[in-house]
Amino acid sequence: MRKLCVAVLAVFSLALTQSALAAGNAAAGKTKSAACAGCHGPDGNSANPLWPKLAGQDAQYLAKQLHDFKTGKRKDPMMAPFAMGLSEQDMADIAAYFAGQKTSPGAAQADAEGVKLGQHLYRGGNAKSGVSACMSCHGPSGHGIPPRFPRVSGQQAAYTEKQMLAFKSGQRNNDNEIMTRIAFRMSEAEIKAVSQYMAGLH
Ligand code: HEC
Ligand code: HEC
Repeated sequence: MRKLCVAVLAVFSLALTQSALAAGNAAAGKTKSAACAGCHGPDGNSANPLWPKLAGQDAQYLAKQLHDFKTGKRKDPMMAPFAMGLSEQDMADIAAYFAGQKTSPGAAQADAEGVKLGQHLYRGGNAKSGVSACMSCHGPSGHGIPPRFPRVSGQQAAYTEKQMLAFKSGQRNNDNEIMTRIAFRMSEAEIKAVSQYMAGLH
């Protein structure tokens, strides 16, 4: 009975968050995204390895991140100013636009050993240190499970590595303690390997 209550509550709170987010208009979002193109690319495929690709990312995840940058829950001196002026409707529209774009393919950049370690962590976790398999939330191909678990496939490896290190140190902590707890248990070598492996997933 208690389990059932928890499950019902979880579904209920998820429904609440979803209805709290405005519905996005991708056409309006395309116009509003002009200011983002310089860093994230006109279609959301950034060229700089430290600037994330937004193309094909789940719209609700994108809107949540913009919201978190605006409120200061997620910090970045380069990105935050661009979220400040956005209304909830702007965020929803821009998120809908980028979510509808195609992610450009990435490539795993690690050497054979690194790819093996990255693959092992992604698919099976690390039982010794208590790290869960990334696949269980981000999906076997890294496409994520909308709306809660973002896409990680094809993402810039340097960006992913920076996020994992930020989760590990607690510098990024807008994740309801899900990623911070996982990254805390990972070594820097494991973080590098899994970041490079995920860049090659598609
Ligand atoms: C001057 C460069 C720059 C501009 C312009 C810019 N961004 Fe960013 N953006 C960044 C950087 C750098 C990050 C990564 C921050 C970090 O490392 O945490 C980022 C992160 C993001 C993220 C989080 C992605 C993720 O996977 O978690 C979203 C969403 C985003 N930007 C949307 C936008 C939107 C929408 C605009 C336009 C209104 C915009 N950005 C303009 C540099 C920029
Ligand atoms: C229990 C579910 C769960 C597991 C297991 C999990 N993640 Fe996550 N991950 C999340 C959630 C939820 C978020 C979104 C956090 C937020 O809202 O900011 C996330 C976000 C991320 C991000 C940030 C994406 C971006 O665009 O900035 C990266 C990178 C990431 N996870 C990598 C991993 C790796 C690597 C593993 C395995 C070692 C892993 N995750 C395991 C739930 C999970």
